[in-house]
Amino acid sequence: MKPTEILKHEHRVIEKMISVLDAFCKNVEKGDFKREDAQKIVDFFKTFADKCHHGKEENMLFPEMEKAGVPKEGGPIGVMLFEHKQGRNFIKGMDSGIKENNAKSFLENARNYINLLKEHIYKEDNILFNIAEAHLTSKVQENLIERFEKFENEVIGKEVHEKYHELVHQMEKKYM
Ligand SMILES: [Fe+2]
Ligand SMILES: [Fe+2]
Repeated sequence: MKPTEILKHEHRVIEKMISVLDAFCKNVEKGDFKREDAQKIVDFFKTFADKCHHGKEENMLFPEMEKAGVPKEGGPIGVMLFEHKQGRNFIKGMDSGIKENNAKSFLENARNYINLLKEHIYKEDNILFNIAEAHLTSKVQENLIERFEKFENEVIGKEVHEKYHELVHQMEKKYM
């Protein structure tokens, strides 16, 4: 098992919720804006995708890649960090759309978020993670797995992780 495989697995879970959000948007377009469900979906992206998944990338994987000589600025890591930031702005936009009951603004931010995240995941799966695997020693990779687990258990909480997996299932049943 490699740390990049763990992150790729999380990408598959995130992609499921992206499909849910896409289906949800079609309902919103038809005038059915279920704000409570919208908030649940956005909370998944805030916690599971951003805090937990991007947290592992930004605080653990990327710094190890930099230490191994992969440049941050002007390189793929810088691009990934910038895209995480853009994603956070779209999440904020979706949040305000829900709060203000502004379906149009919610939709615009959701669509942008979907497009951004799909391409972002593609780049990591096919480019960035290959660079990581080529640069990181097996010892560093093993250490990253340990830190991922520690982060998940101590900072995020195992039950939180489970809760979001369950939410993905629920929302898939409802919207897909
Ligand atoms: Fe990322
Ligand atoms: Fe990622």
